[in-house]
Amino acid sequence: MSAIATDVQRVQVATPGGHYPILIGNGLIECAETWAGLTRSTCTAIVTNRTVAPLYGERVSAALRAAGHRVTMLELPDGEAHKDWTTLQLIFDHLLGQGCDRKALLVALGGGVVGDMTGFAAACYMRGIDFVQVPTTLLAQVDSSVGGKTAINHPLGKNMIGAFHQPRRVVCDLDTLATLPPREFAAGLAETIKYGPIADEAFLGWIERNLSALLARDGAALAHAVRRSCEIKADVVGQDERESGLRAILNFGHTFGHAIEAGLGYGEWLHGEAVGCGMVMAADLSAALGLVPADTVPRLARLLGQAGLPVRGPALPVDRYVELMRVDKKAEAGEIRFVVLEGPGRAGVRPAPDAIVRKVLRRHGAAG
Ligand code: NAD
Ligand code: GLY
Repeated sequence: MSAIATDVQRVQVATPGGHYPILIGNGLIECAETWAGLTRSTCTAIVTNRTVAPLYGERVSAALRAAGHRVTMLELPDGEAHKDWTTLQLIFDHLLGQGCDRKALLVALGGGVVGDMTGFAAACYMRGIDFVQVPTTLLAQVDSSVGGKTAINHPLGKNMIGAFHQPRRVVCDLDTLATLPPREFAAGLAETIKYGPIADEAFLGWIERNLSALLARDGAALAHAVRRSCEIKADVVGQDERESGLRAILNFGHTFGHAIEAGLGYGEWLHGEAVGCGMVMAADLSAALGLVPADTVPRLARLLGQAGLPVRGPALPVDRYVELMRVDKKAEAGEIRFVVLEGPGRAGVRPAPDAIVRKVLRRHGAAG
């Protein structure tokens, strides 16, 4: 008999590249209904990693088999440092080795690293096959599993090689968050907090009031945080799937954050940690440009600090930060463009004078 999922919420994503539901609830991965209604595949490959496989691999595999799928499983090495060509190739080797054809289905079981790589593999394999996202980190549930951005890193820049490829379904089983280490959970809170300043001032206030409940992983608080984050993201990507404008606001803090990640070497700081610190820098830049009041910065820094995140950048040379930020995908003709706050729950994208950017970087830990 199959397990029953409780209090399942649905958020619909509607983009030109695909319409699909995000399912949010408890007990979802083991529930037969979760896997019903997917096109019958000839080969269903769960792509996961060595950390997540022993925790949830067999449960997902059993539920898929019960739904009639022929299932194989691939365990990738764990970590941002493996989000590269070599690991991507392991996915293609596995699919070809298992005789998977164009009707194969990939199931990305893990955090954003597994999700981004599996999505990219699905975009490329035999010119594109279906995939389902089963995010098991908070960061992946509130952000990376939704919206169809898939990629691997290049030594010269984060997520530089990739494709837009929408999943057929996103399955956010809140129960999987119970095993997430506290540092990873905090990193996910950074991307959750992000939605407040850029899109929903009321949500920012809600997080401030409910941070203790979130840190205690209270079920109702988590369900609300994941649902509201997914609603905001679905709304933004529904308006601008390919980031020709609006979608860039989802990268608040990322220009600074990607420089921290690449400058220290991928994996040294977690993506969410780098983004959180980058949001403080970006808020300060917004204040320095006269777009928001100065007290926006300590408010955000306080919340991120209470969530257990670093709010001071590493002491990389300021020139190195600037050099790395020029590789950002929002840069145009070498000019760096920043996501800045333009008011409560409002953001935009613009360039900023180099001298102000350097002053902001120095204020937040850059050396030189
Ligand atoms: P991650 O995928 O590295 O996962 C973090 C760690 O937690 C890993 O060691 C993983 O094995 C482990 N883990 C995962 N689920 C677990 C669980 N339930 N219990 C115990 N351990 C578990 O990191 P992440 O923070 O999930 O994702 C970061 C990545 O997401 C970055 O590469 C970033 O670029 C990408 N990202 C993509 C988008 C997008 O729109 N595609 C958006 C934001 C971030
Ligand atoms: N995480 C940024 C985006 O999906 O556009």
